[in-house]
Amino acid sequence: MSQQGLDLIFEQILSGGLVFRDRNLLRHDYMPATLPHREEQIRRLGSVLAPALSRERVSNLFAYGKTGTGKTIVTRFVLDRLQRKAKDHGRAVDTSYVNCRLAGTNYRVIADLCRALGEDVPFTGLAVGELFDRLRNALQSRESAFLVVLDEIDALVKRSDDDSLLYELTRINERLDGGWIGVIGISNDLHFKDFLDPRVLSSLGEEELVFKPYSSEELYDILKDRAEQAFQEGVLDDGALRLCSALAAGEHGDARRALDLLRVAGEIGERAKEERILESHVRMAQQKVEHDRVTEVLSSLPLHSRILLISVLHLESARKESSVTGDVYEVYRGLCSAAAVEPLTQRRISGLLNELDIMGIINARVVSFGRYGRTKKIRLGVEPQAVKSAFGNDELVRGLLEYAPRGLPGHQGR
Ligand SMILES: Nc1ncnc2c1ncn2[C@@H]1O[C@H](COP(=O)(O)OP(=O)(O)OP(=O)(O)O)[C@@H](O)[C@H]1O
Ligand SMILES: [Mg+2]
Repeated sequence: MSQQGLDLIFEQILSGGLVFRDRNLLRHDYMPATLPHREEQIRRLGSVLAPALSRERVSNLFAYGKTGTGKTIVTRFVLDRLQRKAKDHGRAVDTSYVNCRLAGTNYRVIADLCRALGEDVPFTGLAVGELFDRLRNALQSRESAFLVVLDEIDALVKRSDDDSLLYELTRINERLDGGWIGVIGISNDLHFKDFLDPRVLSSLGEEELVFKPYSSEELYDILKDRAEQAFQEGVLDDGALRLCSALAAGEHGDARRALDLLRVAGEIGERAKEERILESHVRMAQQKVEHDRVTEVLSSLPLHSRILLISVLHLESARKESSVTGDVYEVYRGLCSAAAVEPLTQRRISGLLNELDIMGIINARVVSFGRYGRTKKIRLGVEPQAVKSAFGNDELVRGLLEYAPRGLPGHQGR
């Protein structure tokens, strides 16, 4: 290839390529200038938080809705505007955004909050109580509003079976006469509230904000806004855009999924050197996005969830029908013993099964056995092959895939 030809390739990429003008607009973390169909949520959240501008206390707020319904983007949008307004008017409002799933532990969440107030705290080593004292002192001396967003808040409580952090946070104001804290909790687990201590719930849920799934038309508007700037003119077929919206709406009104479909469709077309992005590219994108999602979720599962999933897999391949929780637990124990791993309690396992269900890796359905109570019927929600290939390079778990545990019909164990 000539120097010129090569230059052309680079230039094309620099200018965004033939398909994209600026693909960054389709990234998840891009903040659009407007958020179509979330005017109501923006206004509600804005009015709940506005008193912070005049140092008045705000109510705690709990926002929930399924994945990709705009909870994170709306919250960041409103906080961002609020902070700008505060700055323009010389008001002190501190804010902190923490993703609890990424932070991982109570300690790291509070440490993050302390740091947001300029406190220097070590990454480990202090007692959580000590961290709380520092947070309280920092607030007391600042005499200002501190708005805290705890995104994916359910991850904290589920991981540790412990909502003391939330309890302490929502009660912190009672012992302050200087500054104060307002907590905005966000969760996409609609059952999360059932996990909480009623005292935490009543305090955190002073205000509630619901994010409904987007309809296909709403997704279309959202995508269209972003696509107009992201794609070169005339490249994106309207039918392709409609299909992305319809597919994502069919699932659960997930804007993230819609954006992914659009971006991947563009990339597939780009690689094939197409001049237009059509419905056929969206169909291909759908397969790729689904495959990537499942692979990603599976490869990030912790050990016990992996063993549990293999138990479901074994049961399903032995019986070709769904299994009840008790059977899954039996097989799970068998596998743990084969792998010399200490099994978790049945209660913890039920929690893990719930998580797998929410992630769509298994499908669980509650069934009633009359006076014998209730149980869950469980099926694999993904292809067995996907599980096998995702766990293939985990040596311990790979062994279990080949192991025939006791308690399976037609299998005698080895
Ligand atoms: N109304 C909207 N306008 C423009 N983009 C949107 C809108 N709603 C969502 N998005 C985009 O969709 C993606 C997902 O939104 P967001 O991250 O807010 O979802 P979420 O409700 O927090 O989901 P999860 O529960 O999985 O965290 C983001 O990239 C966001 O920019
Ligand atoms: Mg989010």
